[in-house]
Amino acid sequence: MAMSRAVWDDLPRATKQDLKRSAERIGNTVHSLAGPNFTRGSAGVERYAYTPEYARTVAYVQRAFDAIGFRTWEDAVGNFVAQNAPRGTPVVGLGSHLDSVRGGGRWDGTLGVVVALEVCHLLTQYDLDVPVRVISFVEEEGSGFGQLLLGSRIAAGLIDEDDLRSTYRAVDDGRSFWDHAVLAGHQPHRWRECAETLDDLFGWIEIHIEQGRQLEDAGHQIGIVELISGYVQGDIELTGRVDHAGTTPMRLRSDAVAMAAEVVIEAEKLAATAGPDTVATVGEIDVTPGIINVVPGEARLSIDVRGPKDSTVQEVVDGILIAAEQAAARRSGRMSYVERQRVGVTPMSSVVVDALTDSANGYGFEHLKLPSGAAHDTMSVARRAPCGMLFIPCVAGISHAPNEEADPRDAALAAWITLDAIVRLHARSRT
Ligand code: GLV
Ligand code: MN
Ligand code: MN
Repeated sequence: MAMSRAVWDDLPRATKQDLKRSAERIGNTVHSLAGPNFTRGSAGVERYAYTPEYARTVAYVQRAFDAIGFRTWEDAVGNFVAQNAPRGTPVVGLGSHLDSVRGGGRWDGTLGVVVALEVCHLLTQYDLDVPVRVISFVEEEGSGFGQLLLGSRIAAGLIDEDDLRSTYRAVDDGRSFWDHAVLAGHQPHRWRECAETLDDLFGWIEIHIEQGRQLEDAGHQIGIVELISGYVQGDIELTGRVDHAGTTPMRLRSDAVAMAAEVVIEAEKLAATAGPDTVATVGEIDVTPGIINVVPGEARLSIDVRGPKDSTVQEVVDGILIAAEQAAARRSGRMSYVERQRVGVTPMSSVVVDALTDSANGYGFEHLKLPSGAAHDTMSVARRAPCGMLFIPCVAGISHAPNEEADPRDAALAAWITLDAIVRLHARSRT
């Protein structure tokens, strides 16, 4: 991509000292946000909407943006926004999320917000005139309400009001999303206005840990995402019959957990044979009544199927549902299924991928082009803007776990590549 000379003249090139300072700032902030004020759990990080820990985390980040002169606000459901230009200005977007899975690590999501903050810090330090909006989407992980990418899907208009008012319920106490949002001081009745959070974006970059081990295996510090796997999530309800565990002969039972066991094994087999990068997970199982001496009458299992090809994902889902029907029929039971949500395979924009690639090449940083198996808010943003994602390695690919680890020095590289890339995108947006 050709760039004007003036832009090159403006663009600071990171020295070793600059990278070291960026790494220190990023590392310190990520470390602070893993402190006891910002997590409900003692191992790793646990925070989700609309808890005090989450509110304190957003307040911390807000103060950091206030300190560098950005305007900050939250939209009607609590997506946090920081911007250095008047509303209505075409802006480049950066960001990710500050919530975690239950018992998660300190890097997933938080890295993308903290690196965005570092990029804004550098813009301010070097007095670069690039209009930027940072967004931290609320409830990406679904820990609060069992719904992935919730804040960004609301902003992208992918949600019904009924879902917010009644379908989506808190994992902790069963109250609705709507009630919790009101209790936390938000205005869910204005949820349609959250669309404005995605207005005016001429590009978007999310920085994230890879959550896999391709970068580590290849010895690269930077990955540029080409496509994000699509996913389908739902709940299978298996119904058998409650009976006495000591007196009911095996041949007379209708055991819902035995049905569930068959489904879990079949899901594993179907995904393993479906093609590269297609995966299926049963992450939640509830058993009713869940008592040691009672034959289980009901079992609910979640299914999460993902992959780089929507049709293959659908085939695996269909196969799992057939297996559930057959397992229930063999054991004189019943099954039903409710889909929670689906998001299709999301390719990244070639414009943003090219800008990131040119920036990484400009620095001489080796990088890998790779797909994302994890879901990201970028999937929602892609409905409204050209998107890209930058990955850094995480140790042994471990993520969604308390021992998730990454290196702030890699994050510093990501910050400087992003800075370079947004200057390029800004220049391009004006031609
Ligand atoms: C979110 O992190 C997901 O991929 O489940
Ligand atoms: Mn995650
Ligand atoms: Mn994430």
